[in-house]
Amino acid sequence: MKRRKYSRRAITKQLGSIAGGAALFGPGIASALARTPAQTEGPFYPPAPHAETDVDLTLLDGHTERAAGDTILVRGRVTDLDGKPLANARVDIWQTNHWGRYAHPGDKNPAPLDPNFQGIGIAHTDADGYYGFRTIRPAPYPLSAMGDSGMRPRHIHFKVAHETAGNITTQMYFEGDPLIEGDVVMRGTPAELRHLLITSAVEDPETGLPLHRFDIALG
Ligand SMILES: [Fe+2]
Repeated sequence: MKRRKYSRRAITKQLGSIAGGAALFGPGIASALARTPAQTEGPFYPPAPHAETDVDLTLLDGHTERAAGDTILVRGRVTDLDGKPLANARVDIWQTNHWGRYAHPGDKNPAPLDPNFQGIGIAHTDADGYYGFRTIRPAPYPLSAMGDSGMRPRHIHFKVAHETAGNITTQMYFEGDPLIEGDVVMRGTPAELRHLLITSAVEDPETGLPLHRFDIALG
């Protein structure tokens, strides 16, 4: 089994217990060099102009109240297919608010908008390929808003672009979500690759918040 070139000590430090780290990384390590599967961008990338695109989606400038919902951290590393970290990759995320509504005029879901939720964030990876966001756990939403039936599982949309390694558009999911299995988008991803898009959480030792690790291999 080829292992990803993480420092074991750094992983343990970042993710807390070894048991938690092993649970989180089990499938990821075995598939370290598998290309992250692409999925549809969907219709709800927030239209410009964006009020803010920083890495904390839970707090807007000048607001005293944070976004509704459960705050989570999403961190990961962008690498090429050899596991080499990709610095200065641009990482865009966008997602629903706590009630399952996108801040997008095309979203016909009658769920409320959240004036305190940023809805989109843009990060650039550091020298070691890492990015990180603070956001809220998104909600499932009905496909009826798009003329379909069923519900989408909780997910965060990702667009990653690197000058030489290329681009990917995909979605990140939450382990244990019962809606994943029947999801219309997930059904388009080969069964043996789906685990690469599903994250579990460990407790972030610094903040106590749930930390979801989502690594992306470009190539
Ligand atoms: Fe979506």
